[in-house]
Amino acid sequence: MTKKPTGISHGLTNYGDFDFSIYLRRSFAKSMGYSEEALEKPVIGIAYTPSGFNNCHRHFPELLDAVKRGVLAAGALPIDFPTISLGEVFLSPTSLKFRNLMAMDTEEMIRAQPMDAVVLMGGCDKTVPAQIMGAVSANRPAIQLIGGPMMTGRHRGERLGACTDCRRFWASYRAGSVSDEEINIVEGQLAVTAGSCAVMGTASTMACIAEALGMTLPGTAAIPAVHADRLRAAEATGVAAVRLAASGLTPDKIVTREAVENAIRVLMAIGGSTNAVIHLAAIAGRAGLDVSLKRLNELSDTTPVLVNLKPVGNGYMEDFHSAGGMGALMREIKDLLHLDAMTVTGETLGERLAGEGATWVDRNYVSARGTPLEPVGGLVALYGNLAPGGAILKRSAADQRLFEHEGRAIVFTSLEDLSKRVDDPDLDITADDIMVLQNAGPNAPECMPEAGFLPIPKKLAKAGVKDMIRISDARMSGTAYGTVVLHITPDSASGGPLGLVRNGDRIRLSIKNRTIDLMVDEATLAKRRAEPRQTFEKPTRGYAKLFADEITGADLGCDFRFLRKEP
Ligand code: FES
Repeated sequence: MTKKPTGISHGLTNYGDFDFSIYLRRSFAKSMGYSEEALEKPVIGIAYTPSGFNNCHRHFPELLDAVKRGVLAAGALPIDFPTISLGEVFLSPTSLKFRNLMAMDTEEMIRAQPMDAVVLMGGCDKTVPAQIMGAVSANRPAIQLIGGPMMTGRHRGERLGACTDCRRFWASYRAGSVSDEEINIVEGQLAVTAGSCAVMGTASTMACIAEALGMTLPGTAAIPAVHADRLRAAEATGVAAVRLAASGLTPDKIVTREAVENAIRVLMAIGGSTNAVIHLAAIAGRAGLDVSLKRLNELSDTTPVLVNLKPVGNGYMEDFHSAGGMGALMREIKDLLHLDAMTVTGETLGERLAGEGATWVDRNYVSARGTPLEPVGGLVALYGNLAPGGAILKRSAADQRLFEHEGRAIVFTSLEDLSKRVDDPDLDITADDIMVLQNAGPNAPECMPEAGFLPIPKKLAKAGVKDMIRISDARMSGTAYGTVVLHITPDSASGGPLGLVRNGDRIRLSIKNRTIDLMVDEATLAKRRAEPRQTFEKPTRGYAKLFADEITGADLGCDFRFLRKEP
């Protein structure tokens, strides 16, 4: 009776009678109605993540059917299993806190359950990085299926997409140019279909990165969630998973240093989300690789922005898909990519792109190399005495007039302090000042929320101020824009120099020199270092304790120390 442990026989317990273990498992599997023939087949696990708290995944039941159809057609047995699901706007204090939990859940369920390969179904912001992190650590053949972006809504003849337009309308509402009635109407038109946010926010960026890493089928990152192409992609992903199981191609052969560099190139060329730097560092860390911010600057300075989508440009993900999607973009920057990087199909990236030929591209959304939207990449890393471990700024979404600027610091010591005082009519602040938010990094109680996009104080917004330099150790939504310095490392709650800034200090930002500096002499800083600093009560139990004990800085992707692979 002893069989080679594949399919349903993977990972059997063996307490001295191996055949008994197979017999027992098969009898329980048969209780679910599986035939003898079905149980002989390779098993494709499907990490399935619908949730009543995740609007972005509300089409997953239909997508799951399509994946299963593909798996069955290719001769294997599909078995879906749940992991936690992270619906961005429903999680408190922030979804980032739970990304590592989802990654652990995914990793352990792939490893613990009998499957020859796994399809990872994700879409909303943190789900795709969490699934790839888990899959890289589990290192069983894995393929990512992206849920796809939303279609746009309409308001008075204007297209709307979550969530760049959410912010634009809200800023106008704060400035008094949009009424209560209109903002209520807009609220119902921002997110009108299933799928992830419609712009090049974090979810879309991570979808593109997953494809650039070689973890998805070609051309599938940008397909809208409700498009028939998305269902066909799901079916094809099921078929591909069966091939992947047969080939035994594991994530460690795909997520290599070259693939990570390809992903950075793509991140720059799409004008992607700052959050992706954190997620990519975490994914790379699972493979024993690092994402050096110095190298990120080198790649950024030699990669043009070619994709014209909000928040950097004009279009939406549905436009990117119909314009040619990731194939069109990667063919345009082919000479900058490592073409020998392996992908889940068993083809190298170069073979994939060569096989696509010269198809039609809508130049409104994917620019030709010779006419880029920006000559250099969307993100830039900054260093200086304020950020010895680095910081990130999305220069493609920032106001160039503020690229070289020195200003007076207006300090908010916590999120609570910010919300109490930012709209105070007596707040002493001008548009030339630099807003500083402390204690919003990974070691703060809110676990690095997307709070870095500090609201322009109401009195300045009403006076027409649209952008100011804002600095913090927090993150920013990928759908946001502005001259916003993020991820200052080390963060203030762990004793970083950001915590030493005081109201009225001078801060200098220079994009040209890649610097962010606090213009205060060392003796004063030493004195401030000796003063007692704000401390926070540490959680004493559960996942919150694990997070507080093990979280790394933004430079290491905010992964847990013990989950990173030693290089
Ligand atoms: Fe899910 Fe924006 S809320 S991607």
